[in-house]
Amino acid sequence: MEGVTDAPMRSLLGELGAFDLAVSEFIRVSHEIPPAKVFLKHVPELKTGCRTAQGMPVAIQILGGDPGRMAQSALVAVSLGALAIDINFGCPAPTVNRHDGGATLLKYPSRIESIVAAVRGAVPSHLPVSAKLRLGWDCRDSIDENAEAAASGGASWITIHGRTRIQGYAPPAYWEPIGRVRARLKIPVIANGEIFSLEDFKRCREVTGSEHFMLGRGALGDPQLTLAIAKELGKEIPEHSILSWSERLERFLVHSAPFPQSSPHYNLRRIKQWLSFAQKTGHIDWFDRVKRSESIEEIQREISSFSKSTRPSIPPASTID
Ligand SMILES: Cc1cc2nc3c(=O)[nH]c(=O)nc-3n(C[C@H](O)[C@H](O)[C@H](O)COP(=O)(O)O)c2cc1C
Repeated sequence: MEGVTDAPMRSLLGELGAFDLAVSEFIRVSHEIPPAKVFLKHVPELKTGCRTAQGMPVAIQILGGDPGRMAQSALVAVSLGALAIDINFGCPAPTVNRHDGGATLLKYPSRIESIVAAVRGAVPSHLPVSAKLRLGWDCRDSIDENAEAAASGGASWITIHGRTRIQGYAPPAYWEPIGRVRARLKIPVIANGEIFSLEDFKRCREVTGSEHFMLGRGALGDPQLTLAIAKELGKEIPEHSILSWSERLERFLVHSAPFPQSSPHYNLRRIKQWLSFAQKTGHIDWFDRVKRSESIEEIQREISSFSKSTRPSIPPASTID
């Protein structure tokens, strides 16, 4: 997630052991091929085998509308040690769409096929090339043709976010079309969108029939949810204690320390952003009390003060102080 799941956050969430793979924030391919330093800045894990410190692989996501430049960009990533390339056909940002990238390509299935085919043709065959799609630009049924196009282009798997571009992030996410595509295609289909609880996950699995899931905001709002889902999927995960928010913030600082962007200002901004996701997904109800804090210590003090006084009234008690 652009501006959100950067290397420290990937490291933090990967540490839990529930995820098989992370996808980087998108790297935009416009008129120039992004140089190595751009890939290394966005995906510093390239220096460590393209895995987080805990060994979780990170796929490199590229975004753009020109097949040749996308293929060349993928090759730059591969030359740096990429383990997998993901292509973004889902970004709804108007500036990205105006410049022929992200979800705008959902209007042109044949272009999706050409882009995937060009990247697939350039990347060595042992490395996966995948595509991330929304259901369509303004029509949920466009996914049938677009998913088919990505598969014909040679995608190793596709991830489908169950919304159209014009829906933005407005609920609901529609899982039925994901299930329809999954039943038709021979490649794995990863279901994505609006999984915020174990119950959501179970319904999504039932509706889509999928065995693979991508979590975005839900994993941020409640990192422990990823463990519950991984267990439900039969994944062996190490025993983890339930961390309080206070402990999670400490872990964030530990994970961000090795990265050059880490500074008190950066960490404060990222922690507030993280807590705002937790509030929006209904996992905390106290973001307003810390959103103007001027330091992480201040947030920690605030958390410890109200967690004592309000503990019984904040559900679910297992995921917070
Ligand atoms: C702030 C933000 C940034 C995002 N950036 C990306 C991105 O760079 N690449 C991508 O494929 N999806 C991106 N997404 C979409 C998410 O990956 C995901 O498809 C979407 O949030 C729905 O899943 P969720 O309900 O689990 O969050 C972004 C979403 C948000 C909210």
